[in-house]
Amino acid sequence: MRSNLVAGNWKMNGDSASIGKLMANLTAALPAEPGVDIAVFPPSVYIAQVIGGFTGSPVAVGAQNVCEQPGEGAYTGEVSAAMLADVGCRYVIVGHSERRAMYEDSNERVAQKARHALEKGLMPIVCVGETEVQRDSGATLDVIAEQLQSVFAVLSVEDMHSIVVAYEPVWAIGTGKTATPSQAQEVHAFIRALFAKKDEPLAKGLRILYGGSVNAGNAGELFAQADIDGGLVGGASLDAQEFSAICRAAE
Ligand code: G3P
Repeated sequence: MRSNLVAGNWKMNGDSASIGKLMANLTAALPAEPGVDIAVFPPSVYIAQVIGGFTGSPVAVGAQNVCEQPGEGAYTGEVSAAMLADVGCRYVIVGHSERRAMYEDSNERVAQKARHALEKGLMPIVCVGETEVQRDSGATLDVIAEQLQSVFAVLSVEDMHSIVVAYEPVWAIGTGKTATPSQAQEVHAFIRALFAKKDEPLAKGLRILYGGSVNAGNAGELFAQADIDGGLVGGASLDAQEFSAICRAAE
């Protein structure tokens, strides 16, 4: 049985004061013993603050990106998987559509990011999703398959038992235009079937999150779908009450 995961991607938002307030509000709003795995993803400069603030809490902390280079060295501005693990990160988002679009995170780079995250004991959340043009042209499943093919080419079946996949239709991110439960379920089932071709137990245990305008009003219906195992939440994760309601919907 897969446990659900609700991940809050804070993106490039906040400062030390507002993040401290958000953490206090989340601590007050979230259940003490949640029936769902919960993780938050602050901007990298605040990761240590958030990990410290959630010490002893059921809330795990992750990073929004990681360098695709192994080890350390002359990669100005980058942060390595070893560094993220060293400060206590449990997860790392790789291949978010905003990074694919604005920072040239190609399928190959995303797969390398996932590989190096796994090597250091981090759980990568591998993001896939189509643009509105790709959906309108009927290319959604082909796009998803191509994005995941790079992961299949780099990771072993054993490796893939330690990843999470997030389906985030680009046209639903930050737009308020959430995918319908049936739209999301169709893609999630397709993703699970791709993994089943590699290894049936892998597919059964794989957590596939939905992301794209998740809120307290739509979370329950989305999470009720057979192949949706939680959410990757953006805007709503910056509101403690809203995010807590989404987590409760995933329990
Ligand atoms: O990574 C999650 C994010 O892309 C979704 O954003 O604001 O549509 O929930 P939002």
